[in-house]
Amino acid sequence: MFKYISWLVAAVAIGYGVRLTYSVYKVPDMPKLDLDRWWGQTPRPKEEDTSVRPFKVEFNDTVIVDLKKRIKNRRPLTPPLDGIQSEYGINTVYLENLLTYWSEKYDFKKRAELLNRFPHYKTKIQGLDIQFIRVKPSVKNLKVLPLLVLHGWPSSSKEFDKMIPMLTTPKDGYDFAFEVIAADLPGFGFSEGTSKPGLNPVQIGIIMRNLVKRLGFNKFYVHAGDWGSQAATHMVTIFPDEVMGFHTNMPLSASLKSVLKILLGSLAPSLTGEHYQRLYPLSQLQYIVRESGYFHIMATKPDTLGVSLTDSPTGLAAYITEKMAVGTNREQLDTPHGGLESLELDDVLDTITIQWVNNCAVTSMRVYAEDYFASSPEVHRLHKIPTKVPTAAIKLKHEVMWQPDWVLRDKFPNLVQSTSLDLGGHYAALEIPKVLADDIFAAATKFQKFHQGNV
Ligand SMILES: *[C@@H]1O[C@H](CO)[C@@H](O)[C@H](O)[C@H]1NC(C)=O
Repeated sequence: MFKYISWLVAAVAIGYGVRLTYSVYKVPDMPKLDLDRWWGQTPRPKEEDTSVRPFKVEFNDTVIVDLKKRIKNRRPLTPPLDGIQSEYGINTVYLENLLTYWSEKYDFKKRAELLNRFPHYKTKIQGLDIQFIRVKPSVKNLKVLPLLVLHGWPSSSKEFDKMIPMLTTPKDGYDFAFEVIAADLPGFGFSEGTSKPGLNPVQIGIIMRNLVKRLGFNKFYVHAGDWGSQAATHMVTIFPDEVMGFHTNMPLSASLKSVLKILLGSLAPSLTGEHYQRLYPLSQLQYIVRESGYFHIMATKPDTLGVSLTDSPTGLAAYITEKMAVGTNREQLDTPHGGLESLELDDVLDTITIQWVNNCAVTSMRVYAEDYFASSPEVHRLHKIPTKVPTAAIKLKHEVMWQPDWVLRDKFPNLVQSTSLDLGGHYAALEIPKVLADDIFAAATKFQKFHQGNV
């Protein structure tokens, strides 16, 4: 009798194993997606407004006076514990200095003017007013490649202000330059947020594709990082015939298959290839546990956290600077600035000011919840579908997550370029704009060759 039960158990186990393997390896069908879903705060009008309107960044006096008053009227901050730098969170002595600089030295008008050196626009896509920068190359008689660039949290299109001129200026050895469209994701920067649940990275990818289409491009290239890269990853899966190439500084393959491969790889890390030390042993990822509390709360209760970030510029500055520091240089976690000084202070303050002025702390944080705890099956299904779009990955030293190419190829079988560098971090466009721009030029050459059948 016992023998039969063992056989039965074994048969059931094998059955489950086969089913699991099948479900891990099976590529699902493309989910049915409404490419014109309405996200507007008011019902869809009979006649949609498709105009593209010039827009100017403005930090007006009302907002600045109120902001400075709030910073000045803050209650005393609690000093760090004896001998502690940033181990318990933002160092409040460091923060005091930053707040003084923000309210007394940071030149709001000049910073706005600096952003306005690029032409900005707004247009309504699926009911949301989307803000973007659009810059054409500075010379004629050159091949022009349209390039959509997408940021993540807590950024906006501002993240690309150093890199844009590098992309639009002709470069030695290249017979093309880029026409750059740098858009604020919905609910980020100067783009409107939605009042409806469900605006996950799949839906953001669709909105951003519709933006590019509105501007008259049926074929285009994309560069993205962070959430922008997630949205673009879905975009290249849904619109493989429109995106001609995808360059990312946060390449991730998020299918269960990839996760299992990473776990299996930990059995023999040194056989997994170059830079395997960035991933293995997996125990080193404990820094992720230490640094990812923000992620869990934003993915579950963004609205609660958002109340204080919306009300207090001091709180907003503390929260954003801590996150930007960690993503930039995690070797400096235990210093008073926590890594922030790898960035220019004015860039960091632009980012915080833009969030403050637009009151978009909550609308931008909600993407974490839409992608994780509220996520719909379309997100998971799309992660399992590989894209044929030629892809280039640049992997920087302090990026929060790292995957080897043999994992990335699950999602991006046409990985035509992979650059690994011992510098840079999560905010690459602010930290090492030239390195990033150079890599995008090199990638675009390979994308074009790929379509000519030469790769
Ligand atoms: C100033 O800017 C804020 C934030 O963009 C806006 O809500 C407000 O209407 C503006 N005030 C004036 C007087 O322009």
